[in-house]
Amino acid sequence: MSAIAPTIPVIAIDGPTASGKGTVAQRVAAALGYHYLDSGALYRLVALRALRAGITPDDGVALAALVATLQPRFADRITLDGEDVTDAIRREEVGVMASRIAVQPALRAALLDLQHRCRQPPGLVADGRDMGTVVFPDAQTKVFLTASVEARAYRRYKQLSEKGFSANLAALLQDLKERDARDSNRAAAPLKP
Ligand code: C5P
Repeated sequence: MSAIAPTIPVIAIDGPTASGKGTVAQRVAAALGYHYLDSGALYRLVALRALRAGITPDDGVALAALVATLQPRFADRITLDGEDVTDAIRREEVGVMASRIAVQPALRAALLDLQHRCRQPPGLVADGRDMGTVVFPDAQTKVFLTASVEARAYRRYKQLSEKGFSANLAALLQDLKERDARDSNRAAAPLKP
């Protein structure tokens, strides 16, 4: 992190999966002309790589090692090693893997620097689970955005359907409940306001 970084404003928007925080964060960033960090996408990128490499979610050391070579490009589309992975990282199995690997403290620590480097002038809107609690504890504004698990499951169902992915509402509801429990009960940077 550069010496001037702490003076650069950060708006942290945390909340559970499919609460709409990504949409809000992107609109706020666009309105203010700020940079935008989708920290969930970082966990999803590592998850995609881990799935492809056959790395198991309990192997924190191997997962952290993946981060060293992670050089994603965030523009309209998300590119990893020259491949457009924008849609691939949104798949449900990648989301589930992301939430499984996110319990690993070694991985979370490895991703810290990457996230801090996004704090660039004129400011940053960061969305995730631990933006206000762990990654940017000195953020000027902290928002915790949530909704009922049913509303969020329906939101995710519509998102997936619109993208042409097959989706089952009951399965999504169960999946979100499990993910909420994992994100909220883990020891490392649990989801909390
Ligand atoms: O927000 P999104 O659903 O894309 O995040 C995918 C997963 O990554 C979440 O289920 C959560 O477990 C993890 N995550 C996290 N900390 C963050 C962002 C995401 O643990 N700051």
